Amino acid sequence: MHHLNPVEVRDGIYWVGALDWMERDFHDFDIWRGTSYNAYVLLDDHMTLVDTVKENFFKEMLERMHKVADPSKIEYIIANHVETDHSGALARLKEVAKDAVIVCTEKGREGLCKHFSCENWEFKTVKTGDELKIGKRTLVFLEMPMLHWPDSMATYVKEEKLLLSNDAFGQHVASLERFDEEFGVEEALRWAKTYYANILMPFGELVKRKLNEVEKLGLEIEMIAPSHGVIWRNPAKILEAYRKWADFEAENKLVVVYDTMWGSTEKLARAISEGASSSGVEVRLFHLRNDSWSEIMTEILDAKAVAVGSPTTHNTVFPPVAGFLAYMRGLKPKRKIGVAFGSYGWSGGAVKEISRAMEELKFEVLEPLQVKFRPTAEELTRAFDLGARLAEKMQR
Ligand code: FEO
Repeated sequence: MHHLNPVEVRDGIYWVGALDWMERDFHDFDIWRGTSYNAYVLLDDHMTLVDTVKENFFKEMLERMHKVADPSKIEYIIANHVETDHSGALARLKEVAKDAVIVCTEKGREGLCKHFSCENWEFKTVKTGDELKIGKRTLVFLEMPMLHWPDSMATYVKEEKLLLSNDAFGQHVASLERFDEEFGVEEALRWAKTYYANILMPFGELVKRKLNEVEKLGLEIEMIAPSHGVIWRNPAKILEAYRKWADFEAENKLVVVYDTMWGSTEKLARAISEGASSSGVEVRLFHLRNDSWSEIMTEILDAKAVAVGSPTTHNTVFPPVAGFLAYMRGLKPKRKIGVAFGSYGWSGGAVKEISRAMEELKFEVLEPLQVKFRPTAEELTRAFDLGARLAEKMQR
């Protein structure tokens, strides 16, 4: 058969994961190019599988595995992470690889046993620095609590200088290319940025600490194979990008997001955008019901300023804007300049809620811009000037 083939990653190490071409939603993160679930088999004296796939892709994984080895002979299953896009197929795999020992963190064991009936499973729990010899290769484990679940860990294959990083450094993209340079390194970095912005953004400090720890442990990394997307043969680039994103290193860029009922808030959004652009900063303008929130958060990750606009409806913020504020508050962007704007009919109120959400995020919050019903020419000039002021602040 010439399909569902494994891909050799290193001598005797194969990708045996699955491509999910059609998935578009990953717990409310838009993944418009689908995704992959990457499982890796290591052929050695003690055959080892690192991670599995989503349950409905079990057969696809098994078919790929059969082309390199007999899955019933797996001796260790490394479960780097409990989330079911990686552990979903575990119970079914255990029916095939009956004697396989599951290797995970203590939190991993707890989590797996809440998801599956694990009474008859043998576990080996590991901590950072623990080693497991599987034959000519040695696995070293690295706990990564809250990157992005309490149970998360990575597995390092010493002799290969290969980091099997699970979610970290991943990208939600389905592709037949398995390596960054085949797929396009810049393109892969762009997908990795969207992934970071929508999954790892709240954990920047932990990301930095972990990168420093890896440096201190002296783990040389020649290749990073995450559990989603393509494999990094150029790890320096993605490691450098993670440092930059974890630091919220930002550009002179304003992200304007808004929704509108009768077009007034939209007029303000456009005037603010033009004002900022005319003062020489990059501007990205998004409509909250037409544009992807995942794309918006990707742009916010490295923007210096964010303007959020909403009409007032029933004395409060317009529901799509409220939803977006909840999404943004969860992801906790840091060190931004923020401003609220919007139109209202009689009582107002939306801009206050937006400003409050931005204050909670510790943005430097400017005075909001609010107009009654339709913006006049003078009010549009004020909006333009607000954009220009934001631009000046960014360039200071
Ligand atoms: Fe890819 Fe946290 O699961």
